[in-house]
Amino acid sequence: MSYKQQVAEKLAAALQTLGAPDFTPEKVVDLLETPPNPAMGDIAFPCFQLAKALRKAPPLIAQEVAQQVNGAPVKEVQAVGPYVNVFLDQAIVAQEVVGTILRQKDAYGSRNVGQGKKVPIDLSSPNIAKPFSMGHLRSTVIGNAIANIMEKHGYAPVRINHLGDWGTQFGKLIVAYKKWGDEAKVKAEPIKELLALYVRFHEEAEHDPSLEDQGREWFKKLEDGDPEAARLWQWFRDESLKEFMKIYDLMGVKFDSFHGEAFYNDKMDRVVALLEEKGLLTESEGALVVTLDEYGMPPCLIKKSDGATLYATRDLAAALYRHETYDFAKALYVVGNEQRLHFQQLFKVLEKMGYEWAKEMYHIPFGMMLKDGKKMSTRKGKVVLLEEVLAQAIDDVLKVIAEKNPTLENKEEVARQVGVGAVIFHDLKNYRLNDINFSWEEMLTFEGETGPYVQYTHARACSLLRKGGYEQPENGAALAEGALESKEAWAVVTLLNSFPEVIDRAREEFDPSQIGKYVIDLAQAFNKFYANVRILAEEEAVKTSRLHLVAAVVIVLKEGLRLLGLQAPEEM
Ligand code: ARG
Repeated sequence: MSYKQQVAEKLAAALQTLGAPDFTPEKVVDLLETPPNPAMGDIAFPCFQLAKALRKAPPLIAQEVAQQVNGAPVKEVQAVGPYVNVFLDQAIVAQEVVGTILRQKDAYGSRNVGQGKKVPIDLSSPNIAKPFSMGHLRSTVIGNAIANIMEKHGYAPVRINHLGDWGTQFGKLIVAYKKWGDEAKVKAEPIKELLALYVRFHEEAEHDPSLEDQGREWFKKLEDGDPEAARLWQWFRDESLKEFMKIYDLMGVKFDSFHGEAFYNDKMDRVVALLEEKGLLTESEGALVVTLDEYGMPPCLIKKSDGATLYATRDLAAALYRHETYDFAKALYVVGNEQRLHFQQLFKVLEKMGYEWAKEMYHIPFGMMLKDGKKMSTRKGKVVLLEEVLAQAIDDVLKVIAEKNPTLENKEEVARQVGVGAVIFHDLKNYRLNDINFSWEEMLTFEGETGPYVQYTHARACSLLRKGGYEQPENGAALAEGALESKEAWAVVTLLNSFPEVIDRAREEFDPSQIGKYVIDLAQAFNKFYANVRILAEEEAVKTSRLHLVAAVVIVLKEGLRLLGLQAPEEM
């Protein structure tokens, strides 16, 4: 049981004797606050809400409660105005927290909330033959972190890359390739070349409208399974995916499925039939739609007048498929905020179809990546390749290493871990719905709130353990009396203690930034401890006890970074 809970039980017991039995430990725990400064205690309980039940002024209640609360882990209780301020016994708490972490190691903070139930997570999902955008990067990074967090809590995440690999644009691309394409060029730089062909198609179509007709014709052929069309489409898809895989490999992100939009081609008739059967289809200007007036939403377009199905139809088919295949506890879609309406409509249509499980589907939106206040987009023909952003980050880190630690082994690998980490962390330290300002400086500095700063702190702590000849005990650790009595050590201990709660919140709110902010706080608290408390120069028992704390910090920083999708090199 956490210390907060233990204190809540003591407070609830006191309130019961005072005549307020409604204040159960669960209720009390929600009321607890952290005092603004440590001199006011570790936990504060405000008594305002009790005034009515007890018919007394809050300061008086605080005094009465304070008199009744005692016993480990509580050391001292003070009534200050309407607050009950609780001071914990630091030695007991430190022993318990550090001991637990050293015993549980990277399982610290793990819970089995999910009981192995599957959670398909739709993430990344770039479009074939188009550049991997900043939005796709955000989806990849946020989705991967959420998957890690769900897994930490006993769910079985299924990472699905719902590739944008279908649509009329493939007809145009086939026409453009047959007219102006060059196999070797596409092989060398698939995305760049295919995009150039696509752009050229649109330029030429301005003077030659027959191109549009040819594009439609080839898309029709593709839909009807024409071998040449199918071969070209497959080839575009393979080449594009190969290029996307380079990014995923660099970032260390793996997928369980690459079923994209095309996968659902043969599963669309069933969706339309089901909607028909349930009487949900309405005709509108020759097209078939599901109306959503009752929710104040525009209708969801299912089939165009020419019979073509749409993005939304494919998402309906995908939802049915995922429910049947995974029998999911929840289904998540990590997709930019601009698709908010699309997902609201999708979920409402499923609800109208009578599927209870639609309640467990969540769109997890995020904001934009801005550069100089403007959306970072891929301009016509001119591609800002994400791969180049990653390559540049890695290269910059390599330069710093060459300057600061030229003898480091595995320089290249460490630079990859830190460069990629910088890019990921730059995203995840912000609440996902906020727009992010893309800034090289902010991303790559080793000081301040960055990935490299946290990774560097972790490496420093590792080096301290090496210098101290520290060996981690198999089963917890006994701390010498007084060894961790300092405000710096206490700040580290209370943060370590709150790691499990932070993961809880991150999971409940699908919000990895909780962990991003947490690892920065922990790194800062650790660096203060390191700067102000002697460690290696102390006598053996004290030194070992302090190294136990350092070892606990190493475990938690590394695990926090792992949940975000970053690696933690031991030297850098
Ligand atoms: N390919 C789409 C895009 O780039 C994102 C797909 C998101 N997933 C989904 N099931 N709709 O905008």
